[in-house]
Amino acid sequence: MEIHRFEKLWLLASIVLVVSFIATVTYGAVGPGIAMVSDSGGTVDPSNPTASDNFREPGVYQTGENEYAVYVLARQFLFEPGTSEPIEVPVDSTVTFYVTSPDVQHGFNLVGTNVNAMVIPGQVAEFTVQFEEEKRHSIVCHEYCGSGHHTMSGNVTVVSQSEFDGGDA
Ligand code: CUA
Repeated sequence: MEIHRFEKLWLLASIVLVVSFIATVTYGAVGPGIAMVSDSGGTVDPSNPTASDNFREPGVYQTGENEYAVYVLARQFLFEPGTSEPIEVPVDSTVTFYVTSPDVQHGFNLVGTNVNAMVIPGQVAEFTVQFEEEKRHSIVCHEYCGSGHHTMSGNVTVVSQSEFDGGDA
């Protein structure tokens, strides 16, 4: 059987197309570092999260040079810390968030970043963010959690190292 020259060309073109689609999807899945939040944060007793080793008192803790841990309680209808005062972290730092809920399911979406986690009572959502820009990010609850859901928001403020040191003293 003879295959026409143009038919061969089109065959080749469609194979190239399929291979590049697969390459694009593969890159999209692993290239930009997008990952599901795992259960690495462990579990806590939702009625008393701070009693667990996996969850300290809410707040910002320094864990190393330019490394911080931030413990956040998401509850009806605020982030603690985050809502009444912003969570303040220094620029060029690596920040690991530990977020849990003592009541119902909430969301933790950091606007302008790829942070978008579900906060499940009794589960600690753990995720790490690198802040490279001095900027204020809004925290938005994006899981319906009750009558005040639409008001549930907060802020993460990324400040200069000197401002962070100054504010701490
Ligand atoms: Cu919390 Cu919606």
